Amino acid sequence: MTRLLLLILLLPLGAHAASEAPLDRAPIETTDTASIQRGAQVFVNYCLNCHSAQYMRYNRLTDVGLTEQQIENNLMFAASKVGDTMTVALPAKTAAQWFGVAPPDLTVIARSRGADWLYSYLRGFYRDDARTIGWNNTVFPNVGMPHVLWELQGQQVLEVTEHEGAHGKERVQTLELAQPGTMSPTEYDRLVADLVNYLVYMGEPARAQRMQMGYGVLLGLAVLFVLVYLLKKEYWKDIH
Ligand code: HEC
Repeated sequence: MTRLLLLILLLPLGAHAASEAPLDRAPIETTDTASIQRGAQVFVNYCLNCHSAQYMRYNRLTDVGLTEQQIENNLMFAASKVGDTMTVALPAKTAAQWFGVAPPDLTVIARSRGADWLYSYLRGFYRDDARTIGWNNTVFPNVGMPHVLWELQGQQVLEVTEHEGAHGKERVQTLELAQPGTMSPTEYDRLVADLVNYLVYMGEPARAQRMQMGYGVLLGLAVLFVLVYLLKKEYWKDIH
């Protein structure tokens, strides 16, 4: 019985384990609201034209310290009211014709893929002339999405080298920056981290409040413990 329970508890961990390329850890701080704000800006500028986030309302961003006016002025191109959800102008059918697959909704993508996967994916695009879209990806081989941030990152190429490893010949894939973009690699990594931080926030906007509430409950229990302990001492005083 306990073993079964343990198995059920561990199941979600296994789901993330399978992956093509080793992932880089996403350097994000989920309490950093300035980073989430920058990420939201990148998201509406570069992702929302193809992907929707239809379970996310613009005005929810007041959570991370933006005013409704700031949201309207800086983030809303596709919507008219601040209470609207982040839908997309491009119809799914047209998108499927263009890219072969419809770009999925990204509201909860961070929950299914995880932050590290997203961080690695958005830095893993490289030039591949064998593909009609001209791009490929180390984390998502033969992906249907073009590298929409290439002007910022520049163009990477894939270098495959072989060398003798512990288990015979090993193929090592590395990405080389063949042509620099408008950002340095460090700046680009920072931008992607902010974007991923936003995607993580969007997957669970109430996370910060939930954590705060959790600490509150623990504190309450601690106080209760002291009171109950004193009460117990009081009750047993005459018996011992
Ligand atoms: C030009 C349209 C377009 C733009 C712009 C775009 N994407 Fe995509 N994206 C796609 C398509 C098409 C797919 C589906 C790829 C596939 O399944 O092969 C996709 C897939 C993805 C996936 C993988 C989803 C999954 O788990 O299968 C993620 C994550 C993603 N996009 C994130 C982003 C982010 C973040 C941005 C903004 C920086 C962005 N995309 C901008 C078209 C786009």
